[in-house]
Amino acid sequence: MTSHTSGTSGTPSTSLTSHHVFTPHNILVTGGCGFLGSNFVRWVVNAHPDVHITVLDALTYAGNVNNLAGLPADRVQFVYGNICDVDMLRHVVPGHDAIINYAAESHNDNSIADPDPFLRSNVIGTFWLLQAALAHHIRFHQISTDEVYGDLALDDPHFFTEQTAYRPSSPYSASKASADMLVRAWYRTYGLPVTISNCSNNYGPYQHVEKFIPRQITNILTGRTPQLYGSGANVRDWIHTEDDARAVWAILTHGRLGQTYLIGAHCEKSNKDVLRTILELMGKDPDDYEHIADRPGHDRRYAIDPSKLVTELGWHPLHTDFRHGLEETIRWYETHRSWWEPIKDAVEERYAQQGR
Ligand code: NAD
Ligand code: DAU
Repeated sequence: MTSHTSGTSGTPSTSLTSHHVFTPHNILVTGGCGFLGSNFVRWVVNAHPDVHITVLDALTYAGNVNNLAGLPADRVQFVYGNICDVDMLRHVVPGHDAIINYAAESHNDNSIADPDPFLRSNVIGTFWLLQAALAHHIRFHQISTDEVYGDLALDDPHFFTEQTAYRPSSPYSASKASADMLVRAWYRTYGLPVTISNCSNNYGPYQHVEKFIPRQITNILTGRTPQLYGSGANVRDWIHTEDDARAVWAILTHGRLGQTYLIGAHCEKSNKDVLRTILELMGKDPDDYEHIADRPGHDRRYAIDPSKLVTELGWHPLHTDFRHGLEETIRWYETHRSWWEPIKDAVEERYAQQGR
């Protein structure tokens, strides 16, 4: 990986048609030093040797340039910068044939404590990126979340689909919903070639230890008691981050312009079941956890119907054994202590200040 503060390389080779097969060669991945972005970059480097990637990242508390360590310097270039920095975007964006926008503040609990950076990065940042894409008519893919649809009752037989109305609950999900609306408006009003994907909860390597699965694994590894919000009955629909990366690529290259695609792997689990499995896989008593204060406005259940992605684009998840995926994820945190140990105490102190 090479590192620069501005500039880019390569020439645009965009070929955009309405029912299109798009073959990008020089992509700009914003937020590529975070969890999903870095896993996407790794996957593209391995799966598509003809693609050059520029990673643009502000290295917030959640970004770590070491997430790109070991990637080939002639394929991946790092640019330090904030997507709200219009002057920087004017220099960095030209020459790319696609922008994939992973850059965002991503954690619900943080958005409840302080929504300000969520509005800036997720809404205003997306606006400036859209403007930069429009200036050069660059293909734009927005990474969004199933949380824009609010939540489902635990016993609701329905799933979220592309037709489900937006009903976000938290400042985080409201900011992501706002960004999606901007992306749709730039398609309809200006004809910017866009797609949006709304994915469910990812798990896998490089996920920040503030998030549920890494937090509990690293709690156990540091002798802390794992912590369930509220009753632990809330349900999340888990997908391995590599399957998400494959789906994003399929949408970028074969998706219909102006369309939204939901990404999910039909893997609904209650938080309590996930935590008990983690404890068991780590050789602990599955009941050795505590219930703590619930998250305000806590969404009860997410569940995705990925039929459109499956039938239109032929995508299927490859990591279908969640227990095995969890086992691999636990091994990753056990063998990458230097990646998370320096930040663990500060994360727990921040939670303590929030009463969680
Ligand atoms: P993350 O917090 O791990 O990473 C976010 C990255 O964006 C970091 O590297 C950070 O430095 C960077 N960033 C933040 N603000 C920036 C700015 N203004 N300019 C440039 N870079 C900035 O988040 P994640 O979990 O990888 O999520 C990435 C995207 O995927 C987000 O848009 C999130 O809404 C979406 N998403 C996440 C999940 C999930 O399960 N984690 C599921 C669905 C959708
Ligand atoms: O659904 C997609 C979303 O998934 C993404 O848009 C978000 O960026 C991502 O952070 C994630 O949001 P969640 O709020 O679902 O993830 P989190 O890991 O914070 O929490 C998962 C569940 O676990 C949730 O019901 C809250 C609960 N939880 C979380 C933590 C940190 C606990 O019970 N204990 C905890 O310590």
